[in-house]
Amino acid sequence: MVGSLVATAFWAMLPAYVPNNAAVLAGGGRPIDGGRTLGERRVLGDGKTWRGTAVGTLAGVLLALALNTLSGPASAALGVSLPTFPLPASVGLAFGAMVGDIGASFLKRRSGRKRGAAFPGLDQLDFVVGALLFAFVFAADWAQSTFTPAVLAVILVITPLLHVSTNVVAFKIGAKDEPW
Ligand code: CTP
Ligand code: MG
Repeated sequence: MVGSLVATAFWAMLPAYVPNNAAVLAGGGRPIDGGRTLGERRVLGDGKTWRGTAVGTLAGVLLALALNTLSGPASAALGVSLPTFPLPASVGLAFGAMVGDIGASFLKRRSGRKRGAAFPGLDQLDFVVGALLFAFVFAADWAQSTFTPAVLAVILVITPLLHVSTNVVAFKIGAKDEPW
């Protein structure tokens, strides 16, 4: 029961988990805010780029397509009915994750945090909130049947754990400048 909830939550959120990591690998180039400031501070900062956002979104959507081909065998192997992703759902999850992370940078800059500064809580959940919000807007019926209250509760528990551990790994292998 709990195992199948965790499997469903993880599977359903994979297209939202991958974009930020892909953006770290693809980042660079022109910042979205074009260097503009709001008062004394950057609107978003150099850590949010067009390329990172585009590559991150694309990575999430492509992953969802791959998961769709695997969902049958994976469901059979696990004895769980794993979701498949209609295109609007994949785009909502992947793009929403990027938008949530961009929104967090906006808030970090407004609160005086420099690029790369940690904002505990926000760092771990910004992309989840964005992904879920966009999934519910882009694919309402799919999101309602996939993200039941129980699945949502599991997502809120496992996501921060996954986020912290993947970022520590990304930091240790030198892909990320800070371990958050
Ligand atoms: N990145 C990007 N575009 C995005 C998100 C991330 O190019 N939309 C890349 C940037 O190279 C960024 C790296 O991924 O430096 C790590 O992402 P993140 O930790 O979100 O950014 P930070 O540099 O820490 O900046 P911030 O303080 O604004 O979060
Ligand atoms: Mg960061």
